[in-house]
Amino acid sequence: MPHNKPDKGIERIDPQDRIVSPDVLEEEAVLDLNLRPATLDEFVGQDKIKENLKIFIRAARQRKEPLDHTLFCGPPGLGKTTLAHIISSELKVKLKTTSGPVLERPGDLAAILTNLSDMDILFVDEIHRLPRIVEEVLYPAMEDFQLDIIIGQGPNARTLKLNLPKFTLIGATTRTGLLTSPLRDRFGIIDRLTYYDPAQLCKIVLRSAGIMKVEIREDAAYEIARRSRGTPRIANRLLKRVRDFAQVLGDGTIDLAIAKKSLASLDVDEKGLDDMDRKLLLTIVEKFSGGPVGVETLAASLREDRETIEDVYEPFLMQEGLLERTPRGRLVTRNGYSHLGKDIPQGLF
Ligand SMILES: Nc1ncnc2c1ncn2[C@@H]1O[C@H](COP(=O)(O)OP(=O)(O)OP(=O)(O)O)[C@@H](O)[C@H]1O
Ligand SMILES: [Mg+2]
Repeated sequence: MPHNKPDKGIERIDPQDRIVSPDVLEEEAVLDLNLRPATLDEFVGQDKIKENLKIFIRAARQRKEPLDHTLFCGPPGLGKTTLAHIISSELKVKLKTTSGPVLERPGDLAAILTNLSDMDILFVDEIHRLPRIVEEVLYPAMEDFQLDIIIGQGPNARTLKLNLPKFTLIGATTRTGLLTSPLRDRFGIIDRLTYYDPAQLCKIVLRSAGIMKVEIREDAAYEIARRSRGTPRIANRLLKRVRDFAQVLGDGTIDLAIAKKSLASLDVDEKGLDDMDRKLLLTIVEKFSGGPVGVETLAASLREDRETIEDVYEPFLMQEGLLERTPRGRLVTRNGYSHLGKDIPQGLF
């Protein structure tokens, strides 16, 4: 039986705690925390998810019960962690954060579970990376709020059942496909976050600019939004960089001309693709005659890991119709060729 490490992987979201934690001392990180919406009403977009969550939260509060276990899926930077924090503050309950890869042994998770109080939220980021033996501890914990502890070894081994507080598990994952079905089935609420449209991202940019006290024209905000890969995190990151250009090259105000000039300097193209997105498409076009090429081969050629290609790059390229996943591998589409300004080889389509 592993020794208990009560605090392994735990991070309380209490803002005071976060500011003193070593990882968030940098100005950027503190700013990110400020930009993070604190209530469902401040959270822009994902309307259906938001409306449903409002009902579930209100119902749980009326019944004085914990919220059902909730799973958020979707590409990075769309607001999974933010929603978990919002839920905890709307329910006025504590949230403890850990993540799949941090929980190496069953004892790591057991230690966290036994330290929870009634109604607490346990947020498990990257839940698809939970080792199988740890995941199995979660099944009875989620279903019956019970922990099965095995005492002794061999023929004398016995299982002891321990009651756990009634908690809510919130899981986040960039890959639902990798979640085992026994785990997925134990979530009462499963929400899939989708890319944001430019109008929603424009709202986010304007809101962030307000918090950062930067003056920005609406058309400039829209330009940043349009080129943010449908992702709030990227919108905020671009806004910060464009602010630097506006401050050094102009009078600090972000107008359309400054926005366009800075985005060009940052190598963000008209569709919001960055260097890596373009490199991925170009590699398929130039080294593999447009595809199909297997993802492993592509990963090796780009010196990038397969998971990052599948989770971070491909979903957006596919949504934009530039890339296709087929059973035989990845293909650059007609749109992909035309976006790259490349001639389509005879007979490819
Ligand atoms: N709907 C939204 N409205 C306003 N800002 C948002 C919204 N969603 C996300 N953000 C901003 O984007 C940043 C990234 O969001 P968050 O960390 O929640 O993404 P995530 O889905 O957890 O990403 P990852 O998969 O990388 O963990 C947040 O700090 C927040 O400022
Ligand atoms: Mg997150």
